[in-house]
Amino acid sequence: METGEVLVIDLFSGPGGLGEGMSSVTDENGYNPFKIGVSVEKEPSAHKTLTTRAFYRKIKALDGGLDSYFKYVRGELTRDEIFSLYPKQTQEAIAETLQEPRALGEDNELIHERIRELVALHQGPKVVIGGPPCQAYSLAGRSRNAGIKGYKAEDDHRNFLYKEYLKVLSIAQPDVFVMENVRGILSAKINGEAIFPQILEDLRDPGRVTGFPDHFKYNIFSLVVQASDLKDPKYLDSSDFLIRSENYGVPQARHRVILLGVRQDITRIPSIIRPTTQTVTVEQVLSDLPPLRSGFSKQKDFQQSWEREVLANAKKLKLLLKKQFDNEAVDKLNLEPILGLERQSSLLVEVARCMPPYLENWYLENHPGCVLNHATRGHMASDLLRYAFSAAFTKLSGGTSPKARDFPVELAPDHGNWDTGAHADRFRTQAANKCATTVTSHISKDGHYFIHYDPKQCRSLTVREAARLQTFPDNYLFEGNRTQQYVQVGNAVPPYLAQQIGRVVLELLN
Ligand SMILES: C[S@@+](CC[C@H](N)C(=O)[O-])C[C@H]1O[C@@H](n2cnc3c(N)ncnc32)[C@H](O)[C@@H]1O
Repeated sequence: METGEVLVIDLFSGPGGLGEGMSSVTDENGYNPFKIGVSVEKEPSAHKTLTTRAFYRKIKALDGGLDSYFKYVRGELTRDEIFSLYPKQTQEAIAETLQEPRALGEDNELIHERIRELVALHQGPKVVIGGPPCQAYSLAGRSRNAGIKGYKAEDDHRNFLYKEYLKVLSIAQPDVFVMENVRGILSAKINGEAIFPQILEDLRDPGRVTGFPDHFKYNIFSLVVQASDLKDPKYLDSSDFLIRSENYGVPQARHRVILLGVRQDITRIPSIIRPTTQTVTVEQVLSDLPPLRSGFSKQKDFQQSWEREVLANAKKLKLLLKKQFDNEAVDKLNLEPILGLERQSSLLVEVARCMPPYLENWYLENHPGCVLNHATRGHMASDLLRYAFSAAFTKLSGGTSPKARDFPVELAPDHGNWDTGAHADRFRTQAANKCATTVTSHISKDGHYFIHYDPKQCRSLTVREAARLQTFPDNYLFEGNRTQQYVQVGNAVPPYLAQQIGRVVLELLN
């Protein structure tokens, strides 16, 4: 680490959304002060993504570095080949992600030792970032847990992983920490007691919980409610910690609790992130990606059979839609398949982009010239018509995706609780003219909640499209198989939001 650099310790790193945003912050000299010293992640595919990204950051400014990286992501060089071209940077990247996937709580000896080493070698400010996993707090996780016989929140180790975070705070004693979690943490209870106030108490004084010596205390700030406007930051309401990403230039209604901890010897009050005036829509950030067709999941997948199916569906669809919408508006809809569409394409479309300039720069900087992770899934033939109906309905209704009750009986799936209202949003289109709903890791299971707004494509979103909604730059490569890639994208903090948080942190440290 050089002087002026901020050491970042990234815990529960996932694919590295939070780290990416922090790393991209520039100071007044155009320099990136945040340097990730270590990323700790236990899941192998996310760990591989992290290592690739760490490597990319280390070679991008070298002569020929970007070109070599692009060759790798285009499949023209293998991972071993590109690593052998840059042995020093490879070693550094591998060290950054601790050689292998590592689990906090299980590999503590190694993880803590590496953190102690990094801290001892570093003179300047330190920042700990990351969010302990959230299944146990998330509302979806809680409803799943409720179905598990004998489940007790107090016995679920995932409820206590934040204590691993406290241990690292005690060891590293960072100037600042950023902790992210799901909204459900605000209302989660253990033994009938709300856990959020306890978590805040523990984060204010990590050493009290961990018993590690020489500990510091922390003030916890909101990133969206200005503390200097309050008599005492402790007057913050729990909900003041909730960040609504769509208000900060992210094309997605992702609501997450993000805490900013500042060591008590730092007396300055941090600023906050500033909302944008306009919501960014799904179409603004997806319209320049190549259109694709879906495939068939339970039968042989031939392009011509897909086209035949979609053409036949177009006729049925018009009749069904005319029962609910103005006939003229339905007639104007083009529902016929675009012939010759592929299931995957890496070619950028030559269209005028309609995204705000700040996002265009953000997505397209150091562009590999092709589209990564952009391949469709297969769907059951019977779902193609449902997808087309959902997308067309959303378009005709001005951006409202149909509920189960809006589907014609002919399209009702063979699903026990279709009529009960329990899964009213089962086929949800991401409307072109609105921001997306939260991209969650559920997108890895099925695509029904993430239907593309174009009724002619009859498909769910690709990993790249989900990554655009999460504001990952286009040159961010997700490793692993497609299911793992979806999980990684769904888990991440939007890097563009993380960059704004990074700026607040940098301003405070300066
Ligand atoms: C919500 S994701 C983090 C997303 C990340 N902050 C980002 O911005 O991309 C949580 C991650 O923690 C990882 N994880 C869970 N338990 C862990 C443990 N004990 N040690 C290390 N990583 C763990 C999961 O595999 C998952 O990738």
